[in-house]
Amino acid sequence: STSALSCRRSTVSRRSAVITEAKAGARKVALLGAAGGIGQPLALLLKMQPYVAELALYDIANTVGVAADLSHCNTSVQVTGHTGEENLPACLKDADVVVIPAGVPRKPGMTRDDLFNINAGIVKKLAEKIAVHCPQAVIAIISNPVNSTVPITAEVMKAAGVYDKRKVLGVTTLDVVRANTFVAEAKGLAVQDVDVPVVGGHAGITILPLLSQTNPTVSFTDDEMAKLTDRIQNAGTEVVEAKAGAGSATLSMAYAAARFSESVLRGLEGEPDVYEAAFVESTVTELPYFATKVRLGPNGAEEVLPLGKLAPIEEKGVQELIPVLKKNIDTGIEFANTKP
Ligand code: NAI
Repeated sequence: STSALSCRRSTVSRRSAVITEAKAGARKVALLGAAGGIGQPLALLLKMQPYVAELALYDIANTVGVAADLSHCNTSVQVTGHTGEENLPACLKDADVVVIPAGVPRKPGMTRDDLFNINAGIVKKLAEKIAVHCPQAVIAIISNPVNSTVPITAEVMKAAGVYDKRKVLGVTTLDVVRANTFVAEAKGLAVQDVDVPVVGGHAGITILPLLSQTNPTVSFTDDEMAKLTDRIQNAGTEVVEAKAGAGSATLSMAYAAARFSESVLRGLEGEPDVYEAAFVESTVTELPYFATKVRLGPNGAEEVLPLGKLAPIEEKGVQELIPVLKKNIDTGIEFANTKP
């Protein structure tokens, strides 16, 4: 967990350096859903990425304008805009990383599962194209419900004979970002020094912060643990309600996805000790997918880290989330194998 910390520090210094020095990167990143609430600020952050040579934007609407706008920023990242399904192959060709925030976000009163009917189909269709045009890419899935869209993507890759469990990653970084922020606030710590592991999945009680493993070591009363856990689990809903119908988290999600993407790219470049949380194929529990810290390397998530020592309340949290997460995973697998 200390390496996650140092990873964040170097992120900041590298990022500020790129604006002034314009160092050229080598990687192609494709962003699908690039004109949306997450897509636009995420595209901006990726345009400032030192590891990226080309940023290929795809959306069903407004992509050309977003690409033209971004292309005027004087960083070395080349921006290309693609719209219309017939142009998706060009967007994906030779991509090293594909980031997917395509789909609809929540409105007040909705759960992430309520998005399934629309987003499952969107992600499935996009995954089918990835399987053909850039099967070697690391895929970072933001579209909700992540607990189901990751299994859907994996099933599509399996059906196409190109599945690599190291390359299908559900983005749960925002849960870690939120946990770090809330714990720092509650304990009066410098937020850049705090790292809270979050495991399980990305919805409701499947989001399980391991507060007992907070780095640096902090002690919590049972009441504090329960309150912080509840806030972290419902932080997305906090934003949905504050936006009152205008969508869900976009800026904090773009920030989290930029951090995750940079870590994936640093892994691809062969940098050692790059760790992030991700929802991946896993043998950490009885479930086929689970979010834990993973070590990112030249092939994606090279290693899935174990849960570590849990406090009794966290142990209980794992047992309670397993049936819920299992249902989300099964729903995804079934959808992928039955819907055309
Ligand atoms: P948005 O509605 O503002 O943007 C979505 C974009 O996707 C739109 O520009 C839309 O045109 C595009 N799109 C729709 N169908 C498409 C297709 N077939 N191909 C390409 N693009 C397509 O939504 P927002 O706020 O950007 O959220 C996107 C997704 O991210 C939602 O599913 C939301 O639930 C999820 N999300 C995930 C989080 C996480 O922690 N993993 C956190 C916050 C949101």
